[in-house]
Formats: sequence, C-alpha cells, structure tokens
Amino acid sequence: MTPSRAGAAALALLLGGIGCRSEDPSRLPGITLRMLVPANERPFWLPLAESFARSYPGVRIDLEEGPVPTDLRESLTTSALLSGDGAFDVVYLDVTWTAKLAAAGWLLPLEDAFGEEERDAFLPQALAAGVFRGRLYRLPFRTDVGLLYYRADLLAAAGIAPPRTFAGLEDAARRLQSPPGRWGFLWQGAQYEGLVCFFLEVLRGHGGSWIDPETLAVGLEEPEAAAALDFLLRSRAPGGISPEGVGAYKEEETRHLFQSGRAVFLRSWPYVWSLSQREGSAVAGKVGVLPVPTLSGAPGAGTLGGWGLAVARSSRHPREALEFLRHATSLESQRAFCEPTGFAPARKDAWRDPALLAANPFLADLERVHASAAPRPVLARYAQASDILQRHLTAALAGLAPPREALAAAARETRIVLGEAP
Ligand code: GLC
Repeated sequence: MTPSRAGAAALALLLGGIGCRSEDPSRLPGITLRMLVPANERPFWLPLAESFARSYPGVRIDLEEGPVPTDLRESLTTSALLSGDGAFDVVYLDVTWTAKLAAAGWLLPLEDAFGEEERDAFLPQALAAGVFRGRLYRLPFRTDVGLLYYRADLLAAAGIAPPRTFAGLEDAARRLQSPPGRWGFLWQGAQYEGLVCFFLEVLRGHGGSWIDPETLAVGLEEPEAAAALDFLLRSRAPGGISPEGVGAYKEEETRHLFQSGRAVFLRSWPYVWSLSQREGSAVAGKVGVLPVPTLSGAPGAGTLGGWGLAVARSSRHPREALEFLRHATSLESQRAFCEPTGFAPARKDAWRDPALLAANPFLADLERVHASAAPRPVLARYAQASDILQRHLTAALAGLAPPREALAAAARETRIVLGEAP
C-alpha cells in the first residue's frame, strides 16, 4: 500500500469506527478544524470547542474520538499526517511525539505566531517538550509527572513513615496488604507506553538509564537495568506486593482499584489525586503523595508526561488552527479543562490560579516534584525504541524470557533502530 493509501485507510477506519460522528462536517458551511482526542477526554474538550466557536463564528472544531492509549493514537496520527490530505488541522500530541512529527516535516513551527512573552507563560519543562532542533512545534496544554500515591491513614495507623526507598515501599506494602482484597502496590504493567514511563522511574531510581539522547548509548545491559527489572518481577511474583493482573493494567484500571480502597500504594499521574478526593471515592481524605522511590531515599525523578497542541502543515486553515491553539492554552480554557478532569495545567499562572487551587489544592505541592521530572529521550524514532522496550519487558514479566536476556535483546534491537552497530 502506498503511504497515502495506508493513511487514508487508517483514517477511514478511524472515522468509520471509533471516531464516527453523525454529520459530515465538510458539508457544513464555514471552516471546520479537525482534531483527534482520546475518547475519555472528548466531553472536556467540547466546552473549549464551543467557546472557540463563539469567539470565531464560522469556525468549528470537529473533535474525532480516538483510542485512549498514546501509542495507538500516535499510529493513527502518523497515518493521517503521512497521507498529507489535511485530515487533521490541530494535532493533540504527547511529549514523546514531537521529535518524530517535527522531523517528518508534518508540523508548523510556532515561534512566529507565539512570541517570547506568550511562550514564557508555560512551565519550562512542558515547553521544552515541544522543541525539536531548536524550533518550537508544540504548545503545552496539560502536563504530567509520575508520582507515588499512598494510603496515609493505613501507614499512620501502623506507625510506618511514608517510604522513600524501594525497600521501604516493599516492606510497607507487604505489612499493610491483605491480598486479594487489598494489594500492596499497583502500577501500569500492560504492554504500552505507560509501562515504559513506570520502568524508567524504577530504572532511574536504581541509578540506570535507557538511552542517552546525545550519545545514543543504551544502558539496558548494565546491572542497574537488571536490578530495576528484578524489582518489577519481584513485585509480581507469588507472595509479592502486586497482583498478577498488573501486567494488564493501564492508568484507569489502577486508579479504580486504588480509589475503591484495594491498594496501599499506586504509581500514577497527578489527575489521580483530585479524582480520589471526590464524592464516592472510598479513599477521600486518606491519600498522601510522594516522589517516586529510589535506592538511596533521595527524592526520585518521576517521568515527565503531558499533552500539547500543534498545527499540521497540511492544514488548509493554519491561521484558524493557530488561533485555536491560543484559545485552548489560555488561562480560562485551562481552568475549564483541568478543574473537572484533575489534570495539571501547563501554564504557570494556572498553577497559581485561586479557582484551580480551590478545586485542586494538591497543585501547590506538585510544583516542586514537577520541576524535577525526567523527560523521556527526545528521538525521532522514539516510538520504535519504546515498542522494543515494551515487548521485551513484557516477555520478561510473562516469564517467556530470562530477564537479562530480555534486556540484552532489547539493547541490541534498540541500537539497530537508532542506527548504531549492535
Ligand atoms: C500520560 C502522560 C503521557 C504518557 C502516557 C503513558 O498520558 O501524560 O506523557 O506517555 O500517560 O500512558
């Protein structure tokens, strides 16, 4: 199949399947800007699309529903942009997608439209995730950092101090769990990007590294990587602190379990705090948050996550698309989106906004942790490198490959994909 046919086919699948909308927007008068959003976020994007349409009569935003996992939407976005037929005007992209989409020439540089003062309004780490080879292609919309949630009530009742080390976490989890009703530690172990985010935190906490983005050195054969993988395997082994099912969990499965009181510790993103405090949550008022653990007990660096907005070069309406970026990243829009979802905004003033702080007081504590978040390597071939790591970690977790062999195989394949001699 030619690239453009492949793109058209993927898009037809998307529009005909998960993303089906009743009306055909191209038949409506005026300008339609198309954008792909995860299905679970669409209800929260709608008010932003509506307020934009009020300010720009005649321009409407068509929000296509896509799958929730980042990897799946990255492939759909790639296929659509590859076809070059203007399928999407606005691109909603993860921190890890910028390099690939920018290197392919599919995104418009943004500096002309957004001057220094406007760019300075964003958290520096979140803004940096939109830069590729010195140019800005993505404006941050919301931001993420990996955190360790714990049941403050259970730890306090047992006289256990919130753990800072892996050993402390394992010990506290073991003492306070009563499986299968309540597990010690939940994390995202399914074969997808979330597993990479978590594994990188454990790897950094053991002093290791995955890929050095400057030298392209791969650290997966070092003893630190073996120790990190051993922590995952130990957690899930019989008699361990994590359920076997963790190997199939993504963010929302782990949040639901934690929120219904079925775990002592949870590794996840900032949105969990706000949602776990709401009516109906079994753990409201009982949740504490820590930086991710390390071997030494020094605060760990959570993986930097987050989502931003870009304009597709193939868009027939780049001017209107740029205006939508400006609208969506305004303080008012950040408030409207982050309050109900619990997501952390990407603007500095939003982190100090009284309305947002009243709804989510946790933002005040999060700032320090966010400032030390660790980005994933900036690589145009990030998706391939991540896929390799995901596959080999999964093989090891499923007991299909001895851990060191899995890591060595991942290292070899990664070097090939990055163009290094294996
Ligand atoms: C969150 C993060 C994103 C990460 C994803 C993994 O959405 O914001 O950066 O890639 O989780 O599941």
